[in-house]
Amino acid sequence: MMNLLEVANLKIWDRSTGKVIVSNSSFQVKQGSCLAIVGESGSGKSVTCRAVMRLNQAGLLESGDILFNGENLTRLSEKEMRKRRGKNLCLIMQNGMRAFDPSCVVGVHLKETLAAHFGWSSGEITAKMKHAMESVMLKNPIELMNKYPHQLSGGMLQRVMIALAIVLEPDIMIADEPTTALDTISQYEVIAQFIRLRERMGCSMIFISHDLGVVRKIADEVLVMKDGEIVESGTTQAIFSAAEHEYTRYLVSTKLALNQHFKRIMGGVHVDPR
Ligand SMILES: Nc1ncnc2c1ncn2[C@@H]1O[C@H](COP(=O)(O)OP(=O)(O)O)[C@@H](O)[C@H]1O
Ligand SMILES: [Mg+2]
Repeated sequence: MMNLLEVANLKIWDRSTGKVIVSNSSFQVKQGSCLAIVGESGSGKSVTCRAVMRLNQAGLLESGDILFNGENLTRLSEKEMRKRRGKNLCLIMQNGMRAFDPSCVVGVHLKETLAAHFGWSSGEITAKMKHAMESVMLKNPIELMNKYPHQLSGGMLQRVMIALAIVLEPDIMIADEPTTALDTISQYEVIAQFIRLRERMGCSMIFISHDLGVVRKIADEVLVMKDGEIVESGTTQAIFSAAEHEYTRYLVSTKLALNQHFKRIMGGVHVDPR
């Protein structure tokens, strides 16, 4: 299978202190496949994703190559990169819903984004968004588009983001702990939408999550990061059945236990293991 994304020797460090955050990462995402990145907080997962999107703050320096469809993103101007963000590579953040400007209704953001990428008319955009919002179980989409962000819950706004991504049809979707800021019920709803999205669109994905139960369900391959290094990688099945690295075994055992605990507390709402 063809690699859609190839990251080679990515290094990220702090401009002012010189502290190395990611030392030397190389990984690939195959066309149509989902790569999960797991690892404890602070291990460099988010800075890695933002490096792929070329969205890290100026205080961080980077070296290495990021090939998307064979094109080296590190050589593109910001203007060229902007054309690719959203349309080719789409990032759904942990607090993605905070990206909405509180002073305008949700539909304004959607129209601006889609008009900029595709030049569609307002009517076309409304029709496409309505359809996508319904597909992620958002009821009364037209009404929702006329509401301000604060009038919607975090889970609803995150689903609006996913609906926007569905309309954008990116070549690769990068979801960085997309449910962390949500309450537990919304978390499961949003995860269920990602799983359906994978099944329906088969789009390539990088999925970062603390929840190994979800990773097991959604990912084809897994990278394990620790202190800015990839300590293990392999197919999801290999990682979960015979994790070689001591640290991965630790993560798998504790996280699965936590997940069981969560399911016990939550009762009926659960994600079936594969
Ligand atoms: N803009 C920044 N400037 C300096 N250090 C940063 C910046 N962003 C993240 N870091 C540091 O990089 C390390 C990895 O962060 P991050 O990628 O957010 O971890 P993760 O997503 O795995 O929890 C952390 O030690 C964090 O403090
Ligand atoms: Mg993070």
